[in-house]
Amino acid sequence: MDRKQEVLRQLREADGYVSGQQLCGTLGVSRTAVWKIINRLKEDGYPIEAVTNKGYRLLSVEGRDLFNREELERRLTTRWAGHPLIYSEETGSTNADIFGLSDSGYPQGTLAVTSKQTTGKGRRGRTWISPPGVNIYMSILLKPDFRPETAPMLTLVMALSVFRACEELYGNECTFGIKWPNDIVVSARGEDYHKICGILTEMRMEEKEIRDIVIGIGINVNQTEFPEEIRQTAGSLALALGREVSRADLTAAVWRYFEEYYERFAGAQTLKPLREEYERALVNRGRKVRVLDPSAPFEGTAVGINDLGELLVQRDADGGLTPIGTGEVSVRGVMGYV
Ligand code: BTN
Repeated sequence: MDRKQEVLRQLREADGYVSGQQLCGTLGVSRTAVWKIINRLKEDGYPIEAVTNKGYRLLSVEGRDLFNREELERRLTTRWAGHPLIYSEETGSTNADIFGLSDSGYPQGTLAVTSKQTTGKGRRGRTWISPPGVNIYMSILLKPDFRPETAPMLTLVMALSVFRACEELYGNECTFGIKWPNDIVVSARGEDYHKICGILTEMRMEEKEIRDIVIGIGINVNQTEFPEEIRQTAGSLALALGREVSRADLTAAVWRYFEEYYERFAGAQTLKPLREEYERALVNRGRKVRVLDPSAPFEGTAVGINDLGELLVQRDADGGLTPIGTGEVSVRGVMGYV
């Protein structure tokens, strides 16, 4: 435990004030050093009161969006998903970080979390806009012994995990769904769905086997302003709920669900055990979609997924079913984004 964590622990456990002298004694540092640690905690967002002759007192952190390694570690209840946890205030891309950590021998379950990305990656070579201090950007390392064809299904496993975490924490305030294959969308006050989460799964191969996989998740949590070009489709939890949300609570809930769903998925190596649950979350279900197949685009109704996670589209033209593989073609809602 580093000094900052130790001071925080003592403040949390104290029933009232902790004197500067006590902190100096237990940490074996000077008063100036204690004062500096307290200032760093304040910068992290902890409301600490300092009173002459009494010392320091931690005020209520209820409802505050404190996002740092300590807050995340305190909440993570998983056995392997999220351990070890590598937190940074800022990085290029957590997906890239995870590949680097994998090269250094880090194990399955390693999680990189940050509060700001400077080169966030989205799907199809796009940029994932990653402003500081408001959202969650995180990536997990997996080293499964699956066949490589299995890997794209992990994206759906992750989508279901984020969906369930959102439902559990905020489901009585707004409506969540999954836009196939892996966008999490939210609708509040009967308004249109907006995308609040994107998932980017990347895989590296060695010979014909999986070397490692990174699943990266970007969740728009407390962001309230969006660039013009994505304003129609993008949203955030805070905009939907009308209040600020704890990123640490949401992060911990995501990994709790992911660990459970991943284990169910890994047993079968298909989506069969999760299919029904996924379909219940699927907002495309029963909706008109346009399949943007460059050689033969068509329209139909999305009816569900199969065990491989492909979207089953009933063609308008002849009523037959076409399974659409993830990454093969784009599927657009005929009415709006979903
Ligand atoms: C999408 O385009 O919908 C997927 C976006 C994925 C963004 C996340 S943010 C954390 C991780 N690091 C990245 O560079 N990208 C993913």
